[in-house]
Amino acid sequence: MLILGIETSCDETGIALYDDKKGLVGHILNSQVALHAEYGGVVPELASRDHIRLIMPLIDTLLKKHHTTIDAVDAIAYTAGPGLAGALLVGSTVAESLACSLEIPAIPIHHLEGHLLAPMLEEEKPNFPFLALLVSGGHSQIIHVKKIGVYEIIGDTLDDAAGEAFDKTAQLLGLSYPGGAELSRLAMQGKPRFELPRPLINTPDFDFSFSGLKTAVLTLVKKQHELDDQTRADIAFAFQEAITDVLVKKTIAAMNHINIDQLIISGGVGANKQLRDKFKLASELHKFDLFFPSLEFCTDNGAMIALAGALRYNLSINKKDYHYQVKPRWRLTEI
Ligand code: KG4
Ligand code: ZN
Repeated sequence: MLILGIETSCDETGIALYDDKKGLVGHILNSQVALHAEYGGVVPELASRDHIRLIMPLIDTLLKKHHTTIDAVDAIAYTAGPGLAGALLVGSTVAESLACSLEIPAIPIHHLEGHLLAPMLEEEKPNFPFLALLVSGGHSQIIHVKKIGVYEIIGDTLDDAAGEAFDKTAQLLGLSYPGGAELSRLAMQGKPRFELPRPLINTPDFDFSFSGLKTAVLTLVKKQHELDDQTRADIAFAFQEAITDVLVKKTIAAMNHINIDQLIISGGVGANKQLRDKFKLASELHKFDLFFPSLEFCTDNGAMIALAGALRYNLSINKKDYHYQVKPRWRLTEI
């Protein structure tokens, strides 16, 4: 069965073809980062317009690249939420209309479920159940993935998401939006010179709070007489050390708490090398199996949506009641 996946929840138009027997056929992505950079964040109206401009050409390009046509597609999976309402409407309108005209099912997918299942695009896959650290621009959650569609949120952020903290810190250091990856590159030149707080690192819950860390960075930046390149790199280094320490320590505590030995790291911040290295070390020390999606599937993409669609379709979840609706504030526990 061939599934077309469509992701348009925010600032990336992602299209993919997934074969439930052979795996991922191919995917294609247009990032709108350059479009939004001058505004310091995503402008929803511009995002919607760019999705409209590119969604059909990207589908055509991907089909042609893999020498196939839309008639070969058996179902269309699309991100129905959470995300920007206008952006979600573009993907869902195209998916539902195409599916209707082809008389095939359209499968609405929760964006975070896509991130949670993204490690299954790799050769080495986790088995259910596993624990997931989902760290993206909008979310920082520790989730017990029991099986497809059954997710228990063990820990959550009380304020800023990890990606948001990266982006805001990057902005304070004069880097352009979204900044997470650039901050991580800057941190490579940094030296251990400043100490920043590690919020909630020792609390018995599994929640996160990063807004205090952002304020600490702001105070540190203001204290500097001159924000030269080395100082900026040293602050980036200190920030990255602090945030990755908290993410690793609390995730390991959650693993011990529910007694599980498989962990996946997903979402855009999962692309962070420092975070990956610390988790690799922890997995050797605490003897658990660690899975990452490859870098291209950590950040938003159509492949994870096509995969989630294939898995859901084969389990007959969502087969009934294909109504047309987007859910900008869809909770993972309401699937
Ligand atoms: O999952 P994602 O692509 O989109 C959302 O669903 O939010 O995550 C985007 C977030 C941004 O905040 C971005 O700065 C961050 O992931 N990010 C990184 C890195 N690459 C992307 N943060 C830290 N280090 C990176 N290498
Ligand atoms: Zn995402």
